Amino acid sequence: MDIKEAVREKYAQAARTVGESGCCGDACCGSPPSGRSPDPITSNLYDDQQIQGLPPEAVHASLGCGNPTALARLNPGEIVLDLGSGGGIDVLLSAKAVGPTGKAYGLDMTDEMLALARENARKAGVTNVEFLKGEIEHIPLPDHFADVVISNCVINLAADKDRVFAEAFRVLKPGGRLAVSDVVVRGEVPSEIRRSVELWVGCVAGALDEAAYAAKLAKAGFDAVAMEPTRIYDIEDARGFLAGHGIDVDVVAPLVRGKFMSAFVRARKPVRA
Ligand SMILES: C[S@@+](CC[C@H](N)C(=O)[O-])C[C@H]1O[C@@H](n2cnc3c(N)ncnc32)[C@H](O)[C@@H]1O
Repeated sequence: MDIKEAVREKYAQAARTVGESGCCGDACCGSPPSGRSPDPITSNLYDDQQIQGLPPEAVHASLGCGNPTALARLNPGEIVLDLGSGGGIDVLLSAKAVGPTGKAYGLDMTDEMLALARENARKAGVTNVEFLKGEIEHIPLPDHFADVVISNCVINLAADKDRVFAEAFRVLKPGGRLAVSDVVVRGEVPSEIRRSVELWVGCVAGALDEAAYAAKLAKAGFDAVAMEPTRIYDIEDARGFLAGHGIDVDVVAPLVRGKFMSAFVRARKPVRA
């Protein structure tokens, strides 16, 4: 099975689990079964005020690693595109921020996530949204389309990140902003982690080094690239996300102490691009 199929299968299952139980399976959205700790990457990303009025299923389906719309400064009337929109939480929050004169689009390759997101938008009564099926490596939208491209814990899942950044650049209007939450690493990561498909689909193994991330954005044409850590994962967090994936956590977790982080990444498409 190739990596994209493995990713699709993992998130199809996550969407089915939310649909059936209202909870997102192994991440379990900050409310884990008793005896288990909340997922260090996906839990407690949104404050109560921000998610007030959203359907619980949209909140429970959150599998991001940050809160891009809280950091992106969206303006009324803007067009926002969310790459890998999942259950739709950031699309619904974007729709609220841009108001009735703006519009928020979600793009996802997984049918089950698209169905969940459309249902969440219906329950939320939000109409200035649209969920599109497609891959972030081949965005099904014209050039110079969006004011802002957001994404939450998805780009690390892509095997061809250069292609994703090139596509994000293409669909942004000149002067448009990229505002992404993602897992990134600082320094060398043991090869057992990099080789694990399970850790890739869990948003860990495919994470780029922070310097490589910035270099790839610059190569795609972006300027004003900035990266701000929002969570840095300590040894106990590393044990949490490495456990159960065939890795010797006692050996490997100390080696990645403080190396994995969630970061908010900003960049801009130059006005004259
Ligand atoms: C970790 S979840 C994050 C979902 C959402 N952004 C959130 O914060 O809850 C990853 C999502 O990205 C989608 N995805 C992963 N790789 C993709 C790709 N190459 N093209 C389109 N969607 C992709 C998956 O189907 C899944 O819904």
